[in-house]
Amino acid sequence: MSAQWKGSPLPTEPVKLFIGILSAANHFAKRTAVRKSWMIATRKSSNSVARFFVALNGKKEVNEELKKEAEFFGDIVLVPFMEAENPCVGPCKFLHWCDLTSIIQHINALRVIYEWEEEVYPPYANGPGYVISSEIAEYIVSEFDNQALRLFKMEDVSMGIWVQKFNKTRQLVEYSHDVKFFQAGCFDGYYTAHYQSPQHIICLWRKPQSGSAQCCNAR
Ligand SMILES: *[C@@H]1O[C@H](CO)[C@@H](O)[C@H](O)[C@H]1NC(C)=O
Repeated sequence: MSAQWKGSPLPTEPVKLFIGILSAANHFAKRTAVRKSWMIATRKSSNSVARFFVALNGKKEVNEELKKEAEFFGDIVLVPFMEAENPCVGPCKFLHWCDLTSIIQHINALRVIYEWEEEVYPPYANGPGYVISSEIAEYIVSEFDNQALRLFKMEDVSMGIWVQKFNKTRQLVEYSHDVKFFQAGCFDGYYTAHYQSPQHIICLWRKPQSGSAQCCNAR
């Protein structure tokens, strides 16, 4: 918990890139590695902002720690849903500090779908990261405000559901895939990948600083 890793406040001007990082409540070490590595670049930039999005844990102690961390660093958006083993997410209205966000009232009225009733999911960007346009992001927010957003248990599939509706009702969307949005392990020159350990995140960050964007170890 060092002050040098605190998040900077949200800029008043629009930014080019907003990075949302989904993170589990008890993954403090991973968040620390991110704060001490590539998030430095977003803190120095006036064009980008990064925030962790963390849902609540089933354990009260974990949530207490999370709340302290969120207050200290100012870079966490607490999401009023329960994470954990239970795949059926639900509003967490019973947790006393959950009402720190007014979206809870909206959440209560939203339709959460637990199982997808069709045979296949709509196309979606599977994997550790994707980029969406601000038009799509604004559409999702407005659908949320209109209580018309369908929530599904998996975040990337949910995004696919929303993009499909946006594509049908607003504007044509074309998915563009690049292998640099990598699934797992390491791949020289990649942008994103799943399952990186805190040590690996720090090591990867140091590599380009010393002149080469290469993997730290083979997996
Ligand atoms: C958007 O709609 C068009 C026309 O129906 C379709 O060809 C295209 O695959 C859709 N794109 C996505 C991302 O679903």
